[in-house]
Order: sequence, then structure tokens, then C-alpha cells
Amino acid sequence: MTGRGVYGAQLDPPCVSREMGPIMPVLPATEEAIANAATALARGQTVAFPTETVYGLGAHACDAQAVAKVFAAKERPQFNPLIVHVPDRAAASSLADFGPNARKLAHAFWPGPLSLVLPKRPDSLIADLVTAGLDTIALRVPGNEIAQKLLAKAKLPIAAPSANRSGRVSPTTAAHVVAELGETPALILDGGACNRGIESTVVSLVGDEPTLLRHGAVPRGDIEAVLGRKIAVARDDAPIAAPGQLARHYAPQTPLRLNATTVRKGEVLLAFGPNAPACERKTINLSAKGDLMEAAANLFAALRNLDEVGAAGIAAMPIPNEGLGEAINDRLQRAAKAR
Ligand code: TXA
Ligand code: MG
Repeated sequence: MTGRGVYGAQLDPPCVSREMGPIMPVLPATEEAIANAATALARGQTVAFPTETVYGLGAHACDAQAVAKVFAAKERPQFNPLIVHVPDRAAASSLADFGPNARKLAHAFWPGPLSLVLPKRPDSLIADLVTAGLDTIALRVPGNEIAQKLLAKAKLPIAAPSANRSGRVSPTTAAHVVAELGETPALILDGGACNRGIESTVVSLVGDEPTLLRHGAVPRGDIEAVLGRKIAVARDDAPIAAPGQLARHYAPQTPLRLNATTVRKGEVLLAFGPNAPACERKTINLSAKGDLMEAAANLFAALRNLDEVGAAGIAAMPIPNEGLGEAINDRLQRAAKAR
């Protein structure tokens, strides 16, 4: 992208070196690796990178061919729009129209794990494939330092879904990304485990009513506190389905049994809190001290690890349905849907 910058302002085009040597797929997120990742994005390649929620598989959001690589890698139904990651509110405002509620939420939660669905500005250069042809766009300013450095270096809006194959658990480490996508991305920036561990909360501010499209790392109550009102929660069968709303989006292979207070023969245990029942096979406690924030951060890695055992089932203890517990229970319920 040269000349008029993708955020409307005049920006230097990113430095592109054609002499760059072969890129190793997984790199610790040093300054040099981040610069390589920025270059790869500018050249239309895909890059996996950490955010505070989960790892994303990123592409230059104005380059439809690059975005198509993301869909191909994820084997994702094409009607699912992607979240566009931008460095700050100014960049976001150049891509979408912000009303008073959007401004309040952006001010309160950005940078951070909240995605806002807003009317797309007609002059935005975002590829239609990113928004699945909708006239709305989901935007997020990530708080993770590596994601921020990548956005600053690339000077591009980055379209990035979670870096897993469609219908599978989101990756919270670079190793998970490798397990999901192999060497498909041009490179994977390794920034360690994601500290939030659950995807961003998605709120739509397109209609008359602010609507929660996906439970996530910002609890609904925090959003309601900022808006000073209750917000509607989209039904699972609502017409603009966020993939987080597809019934079986977060699915391990092993059957999951919810609200388990005892463990059956052959089951492994997904525990929560200090009073885990006895289990002969593997147990992972999401948070022995019963902390929902810690549980959310551990959720996807735990599901993945328990799935690898190949047990008859995963018994999942009840999680209190308050604060982040709402998002955790949402993911567990989807994972438990009959296959
Ligand atoms: O935490 C996250 O949000 C991660 C990291 C990488 O940022 N990304 C993520 O992206 O989870 P993805 O593509 O797996 O989920 C994007 C969600 C979906 O539920 C999608 O339908 C919704 O955002 N979404 C995106 N654009 C939308 C739009 N225009 N209208 C309604 N929903 C939209
Ligand atoms: Mg996802």
C-alpha cells in the first residue's frame, strides 16, 4: 500500500526487503522478528501473532488475496467476517463511524479485549472479504505489547481471526498454532502464553440497541457499567451469526460432560476451585483458588491437553455464571454440544 495511507493519512509505506532470507516458521517475538512479520504482512503473507486474548492469524486487511489465505488456512466458511486489529482509536475512527456509545466503550476498554462492530466507513480500503460483504466492520485495539509493536511496524490494519482451524479450540500458545496450522503462516511470532486466554467480547453498535454478539474477556457487566444500561445478548440463531455463535465452535474431540460433580470411569477431569472430586485419570484445575480470570486464561489449553489423552470423556465441574464465568460457560456449552 503506497501513497494515501490505509488509515486515510499519509504514511510511509512499510519497508519491504526482497532480499529477506527464508523465514523460520516460529520465532521468539524479538524486534527483528516483529519487523520480519511486518514485512511478510505487507507482502501479502499471513503471520500468526499473540494478543492478550488468543493467537491471531493475521493478514493485511486491505489485501483480499492475503485475507483469502487466512480463510484457506482456517478452512473457514467464507460468510464469517473477521476482526480488524488497529493500533489506536484514531486508526479505528478512520475505518468506521463511532457514535456516542462506541466512543464510550473504546475509551473505557481500548487497548484491550473488546471488539466493536460498527458501520464501516464507505471510504475505507478494507477488503470486502474481511467483512464478508457487510457494511459493518469489527474493530479491536489489542493491548498485547507484541501485537501493538507489529501494528506500529506494519502500519497496516490487520485482519485476524483466532489462529485455529475452523470449529476448533482457539490457540493460546505458539505451539497450539503450530498444532493447528502447521507451517501455513509465513511465520509465527512466539510471545508465550496469552494472559487472558479467551477471545475478545464482541459488541455490536450498529442497530438501535447495543448488542452483545459474543461473550468474551470483558464481562458483560463491565460493558453495561460503562454504558449505564443493560445490553441485549444476541440469540444463537440470530441472522448475523458471529462464528463464536455457531453451536459447535469450540469443540474438542472428546465428549464433554458439563456440571460434573463426580468423575465417571474412563473420564478425565476439568476441575475448578479447591474441592475437585477424585479422578483416576488426568485432572487439570482451571483455578484451584476459584479465580475466574485465571480459569479463563487456562481454559483452551486445558481443553486441548485433556483432549489429547483420548479419554472416554471430559467431566467439567460447574463454573459460577458470573463475571468471566459467563464467557467460560458459553465456551464449555458449545464444546459439549452433541457431535
Ligand atoms: O480475541 C479475539 O477476538 C481474537 C484475537 C485474534 O483478536 N480474534 C477472534 O477472531 O476471535 P474470530 O474471527 O475468531 O472471531 C471474530 C468474531 C466472530 O464472532 C465474527 O462473526 C465477529 O467477530 N464479527 C466480525 N465482524 C463482524 C461483523 N461485521 N458483524 C458481526 N460480527 C462480526
Ligand atoms: Mg475464533
